[in-house]
Amino acid sequence: MQRLEALAREAQALAGGAAAAAPPASAEDEVARVLEICNACRYCEGFCAVFPAMTRRLAFPAADAHYLANLCHNCGACLHACQYAPPHAFGVNVPRAMARVRARTYAAHAWPRPLGRLYERAGLATALALAAGLAFFLVLALARNGTLRHAPLAGDFYAVFPHGLMVGLFAPVFLFACAALGIGVARFWRGQAPGAASPAALREAAGNALRLTYLDGGHGDGCNDEDDRFTLRRRRFHHVTFYGFLLCFAATSVATVYHYVFGWQAPYALSSVPVVLGTLGGIGLLIGPAGLWWLHARRHPLHRERAQDGLDRGLLALLFLVSATGLALLALRDTSAMALLLAVHLGCVMAFFLTMPYGKFAHAVYRVAALLKWSIERRQPSRLMLGPE
Ligand code: HEM
Ligand code: HEM
Ligand code: SF4
Ligand code: SF4
Repeated sequence: MQRLEALAREAQALAGGAAAAAPPASAEDEVARVLEICNACRYCEGFCAVFPAMTRRLAFPAADAHYLANLCHNCGACLHACQYAPPHAFGVNVPRAMARVRARTYAAHAWPRPLGRLYERAGLATALALAAGLAFFLVLALARNGTLRHAPLAGDFYAVFPHGLMVGLFAPVFLFACAALGIGVARFWRGQAPGAASPAALREAAGNALRLTYLDGGHGDGCNDEDDRFTLRRRRFHHVTFYGFLLCFAATSVATVYHYVFGWQAPYALSSVPVVLGTLGGIGLLIGPAGLWWLHARRHPLHRERAQDGLDRGLLALLFLVSATGLALLALRDTSAMALLLAVHLGCVMAFFLTMPYGKFAHAVYRVAALLKWSIERRQPSRLMLGPE
């Protein structure tokens, strides 16, 4: 309450022509500042879950700033609607303040902790350099042992990289990435202490994550991209990316079952389940990231934190490269370019796995956790007892 009074005094001083107050000390403080203004205004109440969650609070300590930042979908609606947005002296920019805190959530909860600093480096250049470096290393290894140049092998991938070698290289890195993400999000969850999740809360949160409900702007017409118009393009391109990824994951899982349970070895026929799933997923992972990149380049500059552009683009580029090289490998698996393409695909996949826990991919787990907390919280009575949402 004291901060609200301080804000009112600041507003009066600003109206009287005084110089603006000193900028907030941290990104979390800036979230607290803007949300205290929003809490007095409440114009945006219907846009997304952030505003009803906000009205359950009077103050916004760091843990709440991290929760609400990951609940914000960066749709931009509250920025375009806001009468206090820049150039107003209050400078209320909720999506940007939230974006800054999100990057700090990932770094603060990273496991092992010192690797949290990698988020600052997980940009486009790092992603491309890592993919190119790893692909080059694998190509070189093949050239040295004489398997880079070969007659068509009818898609016999294991003649190039034995199955055991691939599993030995990829399984530990993938499991490490899953463990790092899991431990990070568990730390976040403990700091939030949200209480137990009922089946209804779990169902609702899963639905909100899978449908990306809060990219619909609260009215179903979508979010703002470059201007005041609402569009569903971002939500749709994200769906294509996300479900494309799930299909590729399903393809790999089915292929693993084929290999270990039935003893059926790759290459699989073009009409087989893994190849059909992988091809559909791969096409999704070309269209989705390309569309998101296009929208990213056009978005209103106030929505985003420019310093984080690289984080978004690094993931977009890796997803595109992994699927483009995978599809090229599929198309040319019966030619003498197979070994080269396999090495390049595996280099890109390894770069993706390595950056998974320390790049933009982390948003998936923290966002799901924030959505689940919201579904739990909104079933609990408000601590303020000011009435229902
Ligand atoms: C269910 C979990 C997920 C949720 C709730 C979710 C939600 C979101 C939201 C709200 C954004 C826009 C704000 C931001 O940039 O952070 C976003 C961006 C993005 N997501 Fe996800 N996501 C999920 C999983 C995934 C997965 C699995 C992938 C990739 C395989 C992915 C790829 C991306 C990319 C590349 C962007 C940046 C796109 C841009 O330029 O806006 N997401 N996600
Ligand atoms: C464990 C790591 C991986 C290995 C060993 C691997 C290996 C392969 C191989 C051998 C092929 C050729 C399949 C064929 O022609 O029948 C392929 C294709 C493909 N890969 Fe990967 N890959 C891996 C991970 C990924 C990931 C994580 C993605 C996407 C995010 C991906 C996307 C694709 C796509 C889209 C294709 C073409 C469609 C298909 O054949 O299924 N791969 N991959
Ligand atoms: S973003 Fe602006 S208009 Fe919306 S609630 Fe906050 S202060 Fe009010
Ligand atoms: S940017 Fe969109 S999702 Fe984020 S707080 Fe504003 S309205 Fe909600």
